[in-house]
Amino acid sequence: MGLAGAAMAQDAAVLCRSWRDRLSLAPRRRASTAPRRSQSFDELTAYTGIQKHRAIAARFQFSDPFYQCHAPSRTPYIVVEGRTLLNFSAYDYLGLNGHPAVSAAAQAAIAQYGTSVSASRIVAGEIDLHRELEAALSAHYRTEAALTFVSGHATNVSTIAALTEPGDLILHDELSHNSILVGAKLSGARVLAFRHNDLTSLQRLLERERAHHKNVLIVVEGLYSMDGDMPDLRALIDLKRRYGAWLMVDEAHAFGVLGHTGHGIAEAAGVDPGEVDIWMGTLSKALAACGGYICGAEALIEVLRFRASGQVYSVGMSPPLAAAALAALKIARAEPERVARLQANGRLFLSEARRLGLDTATCQGYAICPVMVGDIVSAGRVTDRMLARGIYVLPIIYPAVPLKAARLRFFLTSEHTPEQICEALRITAEEVKAS
Ligand SMILES: Cc1ncc(COP(=O)(O)O)c(C=O)c1O
Repeated sequence: MGLAGAAMAQDAAVLCRSWRDRLSLAPRRRASTAPRRSQSFDELTAYTGIQKHRAIAARFQFSDPFYQCHAPSRTPYIVVEGRTLLNFSAYDYLGLNGHPAVSAAAQAAIAQYGTSVSASRIVAGEIDLHRELEAALSAHYRTEAALTFVSGHATNVSTIAALTEPGDLILHDELSHNSILVGAKLSGARVLAFRHNDLTSLQRLLERERAHHKNVLIVVEGLYSMDGDMPDLRALIDLKRRYGAWLMVDEAHAFGVLGHTGHGIAEAAGVDPGEVDIWMGTLSKALAACGGYICGAEALIEVLRFRASGQVYSVGMSPPLAAAALAALKIARAEPERVARLQANGRLFLSEARRLGLDTATCQGYAICPVMVGDIVSAGRVTDRMLARGIYVLPIIYPAVPLKAARLRFFLTSEHTPEQICEALRITAEEVKAS
């Protein structure tokens, strides 16, 4: 039996079962006499998987780099266990975390409103700071409206799930962030991945599937968080128009980073932001706060205001965070030299890494640069050695990336100096070669 035949037989079996159930003709399942119990948490595969990672670290004698606690630090440094290290693990891209004007705005908001709005925005949690921030974001993207959420992750999950449903199709890049995948799964829509940044692969899916679905949502990222590369936005707009789909771009790592004034991938590609249906971003990266946003048409925002679960059933953004993001946005727009410094650092990192023979995969030299190291053991060892030599960079390992594609992921900021980048790469090259 071919695949189609097998699927039909399966469908028929399901149908028969459901009719038998309705007519109460179902053969009675004998209740098991064995006592049933849920597994204890340490029997869960999730738990045993984590322990396996720990065992590998212990066996090959490298330390567990995750969940390390740091003392108060300012970009580009981090203080861990009393040592001041050069930090390449923070996405404070424009160095605005701790900026006096940003902190002062947060403190003023606390003095005025306290630390919480104490309600969902739909029922008594709305304050003027939310509206001011949204007005500033929609002005930035030149869209009709904007909506903020308390987390970037929740923004993707609840936006995608609110907009699509069974009968729709979601097409996403295979390297999409977890929040996109969770939202897609929750929506009930059909979900298909296309090969990373491969628009021929996307077009093939559109050609084959478009006619069978009502609404089609294409989701991409402005700058990919593991590989530091970006999609061809012009070609994506062309495809979405041709096939009558919506295009959603997640700018978590593109806002403040791409385009000569940091406006994001639309500016970098020389495209009118109005050509993209849904702009998504986070406040936790270049904007030094916490939360996410959607910018787009008035009707889109209206749907989300009343239907996105992470909006309707969640508290409004806390006043100091809204104020901090607003202040950071104003500084980011007023001081494009921060973006210029960040971009110069990205170019320097990429050219220097290549000169030293490091493998940076498809990195395009913006704020995120991976250095490929192979497997988890090499990643752990190199990370440890880098730490010992004063460089704080974290490994990205399976399951976040394929088993043999472990890497050190460098986040660059406007605050790193060229000397710090060259020194960090010199140490990286020595340690990767020695691993
Ligand atoms: C591409 C992308 N989208 C969404 C998010 C979620 O954002 P947040 O961490 O602000 O919740 C992240 C987080 O790193 C991300 O990389």
